[in-house]
Amino acid sequence: MGSSSLFLFFSSALLPYLCISGPITIQTIKQPFTASHFQYIDQSGVFLISSNGNFTASISNFEENSPYYFCITHAMSNAIIWIANRNQPISDSDKLYLTANGLAINTTDNSSNTSVAWSTQGLNSSSKVSAMQLQDSGNLVLLDRNNVSLWGSFDHPTDTIVMGQSLAVGTSVDCYTADNDRSDGDYRLVVTTGDAVLQWNRMSYWKLSAEPKGSQDSMVPVSFLALNDTGLFLLGSDRSTVVIKLTLGPANFRVAKLGFDGKFRVSKFVDKNWVQEFVSPDDECKIPLICNKMGLCTSGRCSCPPNFHGDPLSKSGCTPTDASLALPSGCIDRKELNSSVFYVNLGSELDYFANEFMAPAKRDISLLACQDLCTRNCSCLGIFYGNSSGSCYLLENPLGSIMGSSSSNRKRLGYMKTIVVSSRANKLNEDTGFPIVALILLPSSGVLLIITVVLGFICWRRNRLYRTAKSKLGRGDSSSSELEIISVPGWEPRPAYFPLHALEMHEKKRYAELADSRLERRVTNEEVEKLVKVALCCLHEDPMLRPTMVTVVSMLEGTSPVTEPRQESLNFLRFYGRRFSEASRIEGSHERNEFGSSNSHNLMSCMSAQQLSGPR
Ligand SMILES: *[C@@H]1O[C@H](CO)[C@@H](O)[C@H](O)[C@H]1NC(C)=O
Ligand SMILES: *[C@@H]1O[C@H](CO)[C@@H](O)[C@H](O)[C@H]1NC(C)=O
Ligand SMILES: *[C@@H]1O[C@H](CO)[C@@H](O)[C@H](O)[C@H]1NC(C)=O
Ligand SMILES: *[C@@H]1O[C@H](CO)[C@@H](O)[C@H](O)[C@H]1NC(C)=O
Ligand SMILES: *[C@@H]1O[C@H](CO)[C@@H](O)[C@H](O)[C@H]1NC(C)=O
Ligand SMILES: *[C@@H]1O[C@H](CO)[C@@H](O)[C@H](O)[C@H]1NC(C)=O
Ligand SMILES: *[C@@H]1O[C@H](CO)[C@@H](O)[C@H](O)[C@H]1NC(C)=O
Ligand SMILES: *[C@@H]1O[C@H](CO)[C@@H](O)[C@H](O)[C@H]1NC(C)=O
Ligand SMILES: *[C@@H]1O[C@H](CO)[C@@H](O)[C@H](O)[C@H]1NC(C)=O
Ligand SMILES: *[C@@H]1O[C@H](CO)[C@@H](O)[C@H](O)[C@H]1NC(C)=O
Repeated sequence: MGSSSLFLFFSSALLPYLCISGPITIQTIKQPFTASHFQYIDQSGVFLISSNGNFTASISNFEENSPYYFCITHAMSNAIIWIANRNQPISDSDKLYLTANGLAINTTDNSSNTSVAWSTQGLNSSSKVSAMQLQDSGNLVLLDRNNVSLWGSFDHPTDTIVMGQSLAVGTSVDCYTADNDRSDGDYRLVVTTGDAVLQWNRMSYWKLSAEPKGSQDSMVPVSFLALNDTGLFLLGSDRSTVVIKLTLGPANFRVAKLGFDGKFRVSKFVDKNWVQEFVSPDDECKIPLICNKMGLCTSGRCSCPPNFHGDPLSKSGCTPTDASLALPSGCIDRKELNSSVFYVNLGSELDYFANEFMAPAKRDISLLACQDLCTRNCSCLGIFYGNSSGSCYLLENPLGSIMGSSSSNRKRLGYMKTIVVSSRANKLNEDTGFPIVALILLPSSGVLLIITVVLGFICWRRNRLYRTAKSKLGRGDSSSSELEIISVPGWEPRPAYFPLHALEMHEKKRYAELADSRLERRVTNEEVEKLVKVALCCLHEDPMLRPTMVTVVSMLEGTSPVTEPRQESLNFLRFYGRRFSEASRIEGSHERNEFGSSNSHNLMSCMSAQQLSGPR
């Protein structure tokens, strides 16, 4: 093809577009109307401009060979203040349609299939759109034939708020994923009835009311967040009562923007330059994912917390140093529901970003009750425990970064939930003797047969363990012994070293409290009493004092009287219970202890069959 025929070819191909390529419209466009980047290629895709000339509406891309967006731009600074199809970019020939039903963008893929990339949502279907208008504030509105606004881009913000824009309660500003990916990222600014908060996966990490530069003027409920010439305001329903304000200097043009780095910034445009006026959180370590999942942020540097190793900035991040443990996946992997749970100690020098911003899941409970709460909830990935207040904070899925403790007087003990991934987990599940817990879980009367089998199993097991004790005691290898237990999902672990707790409740004759709350009074005090007594008899330190299976059956059937447990043969439980508590207090020191190969093996509701059975 010669150069002249090439020119002819191109001009004939482009001709239809050149012919319909309209001039830029000022302020208002009536429907029907269509635009593509290609149709307005001479104006870089701009088809509409506000009457003061400060804002443009265009179909443009932000770098060469990248996809296109329908966006509104502050012309002088080139700042993109709004994007329609942020989650679905389009090509230069895809069209924006303005019809009586509103705005819509259709996109055609490689196989010529057409779909809607974006459209105005929430329009009252009985009202018909007459025109779109780009107002001097930068707000793109759809008007009916009486010039009544039916929809406005200011009510559907992307990552930016501009001066003059106000956000109603419940509206959110979402960051981009990255500079080259404008789709919704994970950080979000939400206006609530009492505050403006930054969130990551619905977990708060900053709030305006706690900002030292802000001030609270009144306590009425918040209805709007507004940005204007003098600052950022949370306003009451009358739009004039100031609830919280962040006062800034005067400015001709100002934007507030949530960056994909999780920081909220307010900047003004002066003398052709952006000047940052406010940024928060200024402590990088308070940004939820600053060091990736499970990375430790201290003074802006990333490392791994105690008992974890790896490269926090790599894809795998920080993982438990003990290779037989792994962080759970939340509730995603259903198989984990049946896995053994183990708590790895983070010590008292660390904290989690969300703790400051939420109420504890429970107050006034023990550390073990707190761990127990987490064990029973697959979406819980760890705990922080306020030692002095008994406050229990649960770490929700997904997991962010860990940070150095910010306040020295409010230290919390951190424990990460892990699951046992090595093959020994299977063995443990079979071997776990946790008799009382299992037994109390059994649904009450009428299932004596099952109870009998369980108790029979316990008694049989204890006797078997007694017989094999010698060979086992000879072995020092903890991985092949039964040292490493843990809790059994479905069997509700109790605070306390459970057998000791059962013994104490037996002494106080408070049996009903031992029943699993899920049974909701379907068991009587007498039934629990019988079970506890039989179980305690099975735990007698002296094997000769343990009932045979036949006796267990007849006691449960009621054909023979239930024997009273022998205190002197159960006192060893007290020793074990204490040992568990002590272990839980000393962990964190880098010592080995008898509960496992590392200092973190210490959960009280989790015990080995060996510990349960006592010395043999
Ligand atoms: C469409 O075609 C382009 C260029 O041929 C290719 O890069 C892209 O991956 C294709 N997209 C899909 C969804 O097939
Ligand atoms: C596109 O259209 C073709 C032909 O109708 C169809 O086979 C294909 O599944 C469509 N692709 C998508 C992604 O919808
Ligand atoms: C846009 O795409 C949708 C879905 O494919 C289709 O129903 C609609 O007719 C298209 N609109 C126009 C104006 O082509
Ligand atoms: C829709 O608009 C019509 C007429 O303006 C009005 O009567 C009706 O209540 C509106 N419906 C809703 C759900 O807003
Ligand atoms: C709507 O606004 C336009 C431009 O601002 C104006 O020309 C027109 O008269 C208005 N229409 C009505 C019904 O008020
Ligand atoms: C900005 O808004 C606040 C709160 O409504 C108001 O007190 C202040 O006067 C406004 N500033 C300007 C310049 O209008
Ligand atoms: C709009 O443009 C005028 C004139 O160029 C300028 O003085 C004014 O500050 C601009 N306003 C905004 C919000 O950019
Ligand atoms: C958990 O274990 C029980 C009993 O072995 C089994 O029936 C159930 O399917 C398991 N659940 C999962 C999610 O693996
Ligand atoms: C937790 O509190 C107990 C009792 O108040 C205290 O003895 C213990 O040292 C505290 N542990 C830590 C790690 O602060
Ligand atoms: C599990 O924990 C999550 C977050 O900690 C909480 O929202 C949820 O209600 C808990 N579920 C149950 C059943 O307690």
